[in-house]
Formats: sequence, C-alpha cells, structure tokens
Amino acid sequence: MSDVVSLLSQIEDTGRDTRGPGYQRPGFSNTERELRDWFLAEAARRGLDTEIDANGITWAWATPPGENAVVTGSHLDSVPGGGAFDGPLGVASALAAFDELKASGALERAQRPLALAVFPEEEGSRFGVACLGSRLITGAIDADRALGLKDANGDSFADVATGYGLDPNRIGTDHSRLSTVGSFIELHVEQGIGLINTDQAVAIGSSIIGHGRWHFAFSGQGNHAGTTPMSHRADPVVAGSRVIGDIPVLAASHDQAVATVGRTLIHPGGTNVIASGMSFWLDIRHADDAVVKQVLEAISQRAQAHAGDTGVEVSISQESYSPTTYFTAELGDRLRTALPTAPLLASGAGHDAGILAPHVPSAMLYVRNPTGVSHAPEEACEDEDQRAGVSALVKVLEGELVV
Ligand code: GLV
Ligand code: MN
Ligand code: MN
Ligand code: MN
Repeated sequence: MSDVVSLLSQIEDTGRDTRGPGYQRPGFSNTERELRDWFLAEAARRGLDTEIDANGITWAWATPPGENAVVTGSHLDSVPGGGAFDGPLGVASALAAFDELKASGALERAQRPLALAVFPEEEGSRFGVACLGSRLITGAIDADRALGLKDANGDSFADVATGYGLDPNRIGTDHSRLSTVGSFIELHVEQGIGLINTDQAVAIGSSIIGHGRWHFAFSGQGNHAGTTPMSHRADPVVAGSRVIGDIPVLAASHDQAVATVGRTLIHPGGTNVIASGMSFWLDIRHADDAVVKQVLEAISQRAQAHAGDTGVEVSISQESYSPTTYFTAELGDRLRTALPTAPLLASGAGHDAGILAPHVPSAMLYVRNPTGVSHAPEEACEDEDQRAGVSALVKVLEGELVV
C-alpha cells in the first residue's frame, strides 16, 4: 500500500524543465510515455489489468472490466514550466485510493466495476487542443482534424501517435468504450485561491466555465532592419503587439472575463530582420459563453484594425472551445452526501471531466493549493491535504461502487 505523497515523489524528477524550475511534460512525448510506463508498472504491482485504448487513454481495472463502471483518474502531461500536481495528483491519489479500497474490503463488496483512466495531452500544450484524449473518445474533435494537427516542430499528430504505438485508423470516437463508464470522478489540485483561508482541504466541483483558444496569424513583408524606412514597412510584429497590448482593457470591460496571450511566435526571428510573420495564441474564459464570444469579437475587430493600419494581413482560427459545463446533479448530490462539509467550487480551469460530462455523469474534487498558483512551478499541495484528498476520493468511490 502506497501513500499518495510517496507515489508522487517517485516521479518528481521525470520531465523537469531544463530551462528553469517546473516541468516540461508535453502530450505524446517521451516524457509522457515515461510517466505512462511508471503508471503501468504501479498498476501491475497492484494486479490491476491495464490497456491502452485506440486514443492513447490508459485504463487500469481494479475489478474485471464491465458496464456501468466507476472510473477515476486524470492526466500526467503538463504545460511548459508546469507544477508537480496539475494532473499527477489525480492519478497518484487514485492509485492510493484503490489501495485503501482493497485493504478495507470495499472492492470485494463492489457491485460495479472500478477503473482508473489516464488521459493523454490534457493540456494541449503540444498540439494546441486541450483534453485531446477525452475529446477524441467522445467525438468532441473530429478524428481527421486531430490527425492533421501539427506540433511546433511541424510533426503531425498522425505521425506522433503512430510513433506512440497508436493506429491512426482507429483514433476517434469510441462510443462502445465510453458507454461502459457509469460515472467519472476526477480529483485535481485546486488551481486558484478557492480553498485558501478555509478550514476545508477538499471542494466539490460545480461547473467549468466556458473557455477557448484561438490562433491569430499576422503576415507582412520580411525585410532588412537597416535599409527599410519606417514608412515602408509592413511589420506583423507591430500589428500583433498592438493587439496584445489592447487585450487587458478589452477583456476587463466584461465583468469576470479573462483573456490571455501566453505564447507568441515571430518568423523567422532575427534581431536585424523585419519579420514576415507573427502569431499569438489567445485563451478567453467566462461562465457565460456569449461573453466569451463578445470578447473574441472585440479582440478580432481590433486585430483587423491594427493589421489595416500597419499594412499586414491577419487570419484568425479557433483551436478549441469548451462551453460552460455543469456537473451532473445526481452524482453531485451523492458527492455532497459523502462529503457534507466540502464547499462547491466553479472552475476556471478546463479538465477531461468537463469534456466527458455531456456524455457520462462526471464530477470533480479539488484539493487545496496553499499558493493559489497553478500552471507554474509554485503550484503546491501540502502532504496532509494530499492525504485528505485521497480520503475524500475513497469515500466517494466507496459510495459509487454500491449505487
Ligand atoms: C488546463 O489546465 C486549462 O484549463 O487550460
Ligand atoms: Mn489538469
Ligand atoms: Mn492544467
Ligand atoms: Mn486542465
């Protein structure tokens, strides 16, 4: 029987970011494969039956597989420079919870199958589309579109998936597998300040706010930095930077809306070269999907205006969108009965549970993060809170197994 803290310590050196603190664990990379192999070994050590499905989702069964299964799990990939808990906490907590359920005899009394699922490329930091594994299995992304996605090196998802041992012809919607899931419960580190200054280590998820990603690509005329007068330039970097500078004000004009540019690319990228291309990727979130559209519209209009003023072209494409999702009321009621003091939290972060929710009853548990920081190395979770998270998950799973 392993403790969640010691399970996480086993992978603390895997995929460290070589550029600074934190982790670099992109989806479908050698690092994610190494973490998956660690998970497979931990599952085997517990006698769990494992399989990797057509979409690269790893399943580990604590009982014989079957219909109406209780499934828990999360992901092992990270954003660039990510923290130690976003994803792995849910996977390690599930392994620790399975140990407790076995030790207490709850598994023998189970009336439903129990499985752990690990989803690949949850962050979408490699191919741009968040929750790629859960989107594929549910059909939230078309397989052909997914296979054509390219990473920053220009490698297609089709090629990378093949290298990962998947068959591109089998990638895509898998209703028969999905229909075996009776409920999905994801435990996750809290990614904001929601539980700070409360006496509760664990919260229950109520909803995930609408969020999407868009690619803005500006193209102009590459030229010489020394010989081209300022009046003769069509510089996409100028247009793109003006838009980025406008975003905080445009977002702030809608209460609670958030908009972020965390990634830019200048092509070809030389100090003495006027760029021919500039891209940025925009993330917008709000609980009202209509507000997300309004913010996008305002930023897009501004992009067209700045492009016109600077003599460059802009094209805007959507990478993914997840509408505001409310977790299933019935399952949520059962969680509240199991954890009567746990507060309810709406999440500004996206999760595989949110992608699964329209298809299978889904729920989330959040474990207190004392820094309130996430997607950064300062993301944290106290050892005793990690253990409280496992206890909460055990209570919830115990109840589900006999419903
Ligand atoms: C993933 O964690 C996201 O919400 O961006
Ligand atoms: Mn996550
Ligand atoms: Mn994340
Ligand atoms: Mn996430």
